[in-house]
Amino acid sequence: MANRKIPFFNYPAVFTDFENELTKIFKDVGSRGAFILQQDLKDFEKNLAEFMGAKFAVATSNGTDALVMGLKAAGVKAGDEVIFSSHTFVATASAIHFVGAIPVPVECGEDHQISPDHVEKAITSKTKCIMPTQLNGRCCDMDRLSEIAKKHNLVIVEDAAQGLGAKFKGQCAGTFGAAAGMSFYPAKVLGGLGDAGAAFTNDEKIYRELILLRDHGRDPETGDVVTWGMNYRMDNLQAAFLNHKLKTYDKVMERRREIASRYNEGLKDLANLVLPPAPNSDERYFDIYQNYEIEAEKRDQLKTHLGEKGIGTLIQWGGKMVHQFTKLGFNQSLPFTEKVAASMLMLPINMSVTNDDIDYVIESIREFYKR
Ligand SMILES: Cc1ncc(COP(=O)(O)O)c(C=O)c1O
Repeated sequence: MANRKIPFFNYPAVFTDFENELTKIFKDVGSRGAFILQQDLKDFEKNLAEFMGAKFAVATSNGTDALVMGLKAAGVKAGDEVIFSSHTFVATASAIHFVGAIPVPVECGEDHQISPDHVEKAITSKTKCIMPTQLNGRCCDMDRLSEIAKKHNLVIVEDAAQGLGAKFKGQCAGTFGAAAGMSFYPAKVLGGLGDAGAAFTNDEKIYRELILLRDHGRDPETGDVVTWGMNYRMDNLQAAFLNHKLKTYDKVMERRREIASRYNEGLKDLANLVLPPAPNSDERYFDIYQNYEIEAEKRDQLKTHLGEKGIGTLIQWGGKMVHQFTKLGFNQSLPFTEKVAASMLMLPINMSVTNDDIDYVIESIREFYKR
């Protein structure tokens, strides 16, 4: 087995895989002087909403801003409690914090998605909202969460940052709640050339709120300032880039599912690992594998071994779940989530890795556990 170089993620490819088309777009948009809130942005929003089966998409500066906008527009206010899975990016909690609400972290389940049982246990008289993260390109059990929300009169605002195209019972992440936020950070499955995001809703009133929040509270028809707003706009140039990439997104999802299948097949007999659910292992879920996150015995040694083999891996969130950021004021103990934190590792999954690369990763992992 000769050593290879397989970076965890190939950042230049975000550009080079589409170099000719993106360069043309750059020249076209630039020479039109179409920089802010122009037609390319409207086109992207329309195509994105259509792709997701959402009524409205609002393109934003990044995913975190989209989450803040979604929470605000859905009516989450200062002092409200918002329940979220601790296995998420700190941005989920920051968005809750920055609308003045209180982030309440709970456990994830076996598939690393928020545990509905723990959501239900965490509900108090102050709870206003459940904010599930559609983590790693997989949806949460949206049936259970929707039932709980209905029973306790709560709103759902989805953190769909990692979930573009992931489905639960045929419905896309980002379309279940009152609102949702998505990220197009370069390493996301639909990766921008820099920061970018989008907010979603099926509710016309919330849509209007999102539009006002995004652009200084200005009514897009009259330009009049009708409420407080911020500048949460996506650049028109970025929208044009993303609109182009969206055209081939189906192929990208397909390839990632193929890679996940190959990992699952090659590793499923190893008792030292817990693998993510394989594609098609549960017909309710259509996963797009933003990440291929395993739990591994002797995780740190395995990571070192793979590094020596030239294989890049990543420990999500630097190995700390949100409730472990005690400087933010969290003091919960979430034993299952902590166990996941101590063993989770992400293997390379992107459009640059070949089947040979994947087989090499599989062989290298098998070699480690044979020793
Ligand atoms: C789960 C999750 N939530 C929120 C975000 C924030 O998105 P952004 O980096 O675009 O602000 C990210 C992306 O990094 C994420 O993975």
